[in-house]
Amino acid sequence: MTAHTPGRFLVLDGTDGCGKSTQIPLLRKVFEQRGFSVVQTYDPGGTDIGEQIRKLLKYDAKGKMDVHTETMLFMASRAQLVSEVIRPALAEGKIVLCDRFVSSTCAYQGAGGYPVEEIINLARYAIGQTWPDLTIILDLPAEKGRHRTGVRNGQNHSNSSVHSAEDRFDSRSLEYYQRVRQGFLALPKYYPTPVEIVNTDGLSIEEVHQKIAALLEKRNWF
Ligand code: TMP
Repeated sequence: MTAHTPGRFLVLDGTDGCGKSTQIPLLRKVFEQRGFSVVQTYDPGGTDIGEQIRKLLKYDAKGKMDVHTETMLFMASRAQLVSEVIRPALAEGKIVLCDRFVSSTCAYQGAGGYPVEEIINLARYAIGQTWPDLTIILDLPAEKGRHRTGVRNGQNHSNSSVHSAEDRFDSRSLEYYQRVRQGFLALPKYYPTPVEIVNTDGLSIEEVHQKIAALLEKRNWF
């Protein structure tokens, strides 16, 4: 599935508030200390065109968006990210660390009623053979993640432009997030490339980091 050697492509994913955006810079440091060249990015977004789609998805769209429309917008942003950032970085032998990817569409739009097999097929069209070498899901009960994002509400992704508008995704119910979590937990059964679930419940930032680093060590990433 992954036809992009010599680089390596790692995705961190999970429900909102799972801690992936905190863990990615810590991982980046470890890779860099070991001499790897790293490209850190995020999905949706990560390119000029992707940023415009991200803004539309998160803030600007008015009215209720059909799940098919939403899914294709996420895929469109991702197609741009793969062709402009991820594929060239991998071709140069870099490590790509990406915050969310197709795994999020499976969990979120899957929870919204889009069949996951169709999401995978759509992704094959959008990203070709550029699938992650490994996807790490940081697992945590949905209510705990929601509690964390509640603290962060009103702030934006560190890489995005400042926004005062309401985040369209913040108004979804706890029940929806519980389905999203189940969607992430089901990924290893059908995702085309390896997925590891890391239980982070009750662990400190450092403990989660050590768990991820140990997992990567075991899989010969360092
Ligand atoms: P974030 O990048 O700030 O986490 O916000 C992205 C939001 O979009 C988050 O709630 C997860 C959601 N999302 C999807 O619903 N589908 C997707 O494919 C992706 C990448 C994100």
